[in-house]
Amino acid sequence: MKKVKICFVMVSALLLYGSSALAEQASVERGKELFNNPGLGASQNAISCGTCHPGGEGMEKAGGNPELAAMINRCIKGPLKGEPLDEKTVAMESLEMYLKSLAK
Ligand code: HEC
Repeated sequence: MKKVKICFVMVSALLLYGSSALAEQASVERGKELFNNPGLGASQNAISCGTCHPGGEGMEKAGGNPELAAMINRCIKGPLKGEPLDEKTVAMESLEMYLKSLAK
């Protein structure tokens, strides 16, 4: 009986771990949050992407830009004075998903 209990605990732990890993997935919501977060790219100033692109307005075509990630990093390094993001991160993927979601 004890073995069954241990097994149950291990399975629950795995399930819990699995769902927290899921929470780390890229999403449009996360991208939107980061877009409006002045701390993006470890930025120390009070400027977020949303300061110049409020609500992502005027960015309906950005999602089709093949250099989207580079463009995002250019704005992180420039106005935000932050560190560019690696293209394979959840943060960058989320930002790209958010910008693509703005396409009309
Ligand atoms: C100080 C104002 C400012 C801030 C803050 C800013 N941008 Fe920009 N962004 C611009 C300007 C100006 C352009 C257009 C000129 C250019 O191409 O460099 C632009 C262009 C872009 C484009 C290309 C648009 C297109 O249609 O292809 C993307 C994508 C973009 N910004 C994303 C971001 C993201 C993501 C952030 C936050 C990390 C951000 N911007 C923060 C001023 C800003």
